[in-house]
Amino acid sequence: MIFYFTATGNSLYVAKQLNETRISIAQAIHDREKIYTADKIGIVCPVFGHEVPPLVREFLAGSTFRTDYFYMILTYGNRHGGAAELTQKLLEDLGIHPSYINLVLMADIFLPGFDMNEQKALDKNVDGQMERILQDIVSGKEYIAPVTDTDRAAHREYLDRTAEMSDDVFSRTYRITEECIGCGICTKVCPKKCLHMEGQKSVWNPEGCMMCMACIHACPMMAIQMRMPEKNPKARYRNEHISICEIVDANNQWGEDTFR
Ligand SMILES: Cc1cc2nc3c(=O)[nH]c(=O)nc-3n(C[C@H](O)[C@H](O)[C@H](O)COP(=O)(O)O)c2cc1C
Repeated sequence: MIFYFTATGNSLYVAKQLNETRISIAQAIHDREKIYTADKIGIVCPVFGHEVPPLVREFLAGSTFRTDYFYMILTYGNRHGGAAELTQKLLEDLGIHPSYINLVLMADIFLPGFDMNEQKALDKNVDGQMERILQDIVSGKEYIAPVTDTDRAAHREYLDRTAEMSDDVFSRTYRITEECIGCGICTKVCPKKCLHMEGQKSVWNPEGCMMCMACIHACPMMAIQMRMPEKNPKARYRNEHISICEIVDANNQWGEDTFR
């Protein structure tokens, strides 16, 4: 049994390699009774600011996992900042004892920091990394990815920097331009229902937004832009092995009325 959260498909691609029953966290978060039982239970998700995304944290905190082997695979793009150690601590605080935590370096979807055309051109050897991880999971290896003092310092520096940001930074994250054609795709890839249609235009509501960037990357018109400077406002990303329908299926919060 594997739970995943994905914005642009990287973590779903990893989850699909594991060949287990796959459950989207954006959907499972609504389960009334979150008690899950399996021989092995895994979570795959991206790293946000060196930690697990808020939605995943909420899911972990509200769930009971009955298993002998709990593992996490974190996808990241550039600098993990000790994510394995931070995640281990989070899990232990929640009474979950991880057998295995590992990381996969993939395209970095953080638009203020990276140009997606450059990220797509880089070969980060994802399949090579996955080969080792798959062997580990199959053999039930006990392992937590190592963390150095440099990683910890990077995280401290990040915390100091974000502490200086103003409280309304999230409410100023996105703007929707005149290019919007009202296709509604953004509303259906958002795991938090932060976008809706008004007439032929999409409207973004900052409440609950965790800045996962699923909407901005999925917009076929590139009509969603960040208010902070982007490296390349004309480049967007989706994992090459994952379709837009798979991201909609994973994240759509609007029930049966699904875009096809
Ligand atoms: C809000 C946000 C924060 C991120 N923070 C980090 C980070 O601290 N370190 C890093 O290496 N990558 C970071 N990333 C990049 C993602 O972890 C990475 O691209 C991931 O593979 C995306 O997975 P997905 O396609 O399944 O959503 C961040 C991305 C977003 C959207």
